[in-house]
Amino acid sequence: MQMDFNESQTRKNLMRAFAGECQARQRYYQAALTAQQKKLVGLERMFRFTAEQEERHAMVFWKLLKQGDGQDVDISAGFPAAVSEEIQKLLDSSEAEEYKEFSVIYPDFARIAADEGFTEAASEFGMIAEIENSHRARFAYYGKLCREGTLFRSDDPGQYWICLNCGHIHKGSEPPRECPVCSVEQGYFIRREEAAFTSCATVSA
Ligand SMILES: [Fe+2]
Ligand SMILES: [Fe+2]
Repeated sequence: MQMDFNESQTRKNLMRAFAGECQARQRYYQAALTAQQKKLVGLERMFRFTAEQEERHAMVFWKLLKQGDGQDVDISAGFPAAVSEEIQKLLDSSEAEEYKEFSVIYPDFARIAADEGFTEAASEFGMIAEIENSHRARFAYYGKLCREGTLFRSDDPGQYWICLNCGHIHKGSEPPRECPVCSVEQGYFIRREEAAFTSCATVSA
């Protein structure tokens, strides 16, 4: 049986999730600007890509709050405060916060929503938890590359790299210092398999 939404813990949890997603969106957007200043365009795009998804999650939770009576919702929660201009720290703290959302916060919210009879909220918390886990994995992947100094270096001389500005593809253990086609700096290159829509282009016609 569904309880009164205005009296429910789920309503508070939805507001907390909304606040958390808005903040995550802003943190990743700011991390994108930091990466941009450091001319790490691949990382900038990765942070923006993730920030946009957090914005969409915020919208999902906001819409679910429509069931309420429109009165303010008081929440009390801890939110991440690891402010940094260092890319490594930004990647590591982002990974940690995604892990917490995926492994503790949203599963708890999903369970409470199910107990209170809010099946749609329970399902959204569950599905968004899985997305946060994919964010965690992505931040972990780039965190590892940065830590190992392999963002622009591979042990494989057959590695393909793509310029995010013009699409030029380079094969080798490192991307060029400057794109030979459009002259942008090395920070525009990422491994080809990391780029959206590129794996389909490796299938020969
Ligand atoms: Fe999210
Ligand atoms: Fe996330």
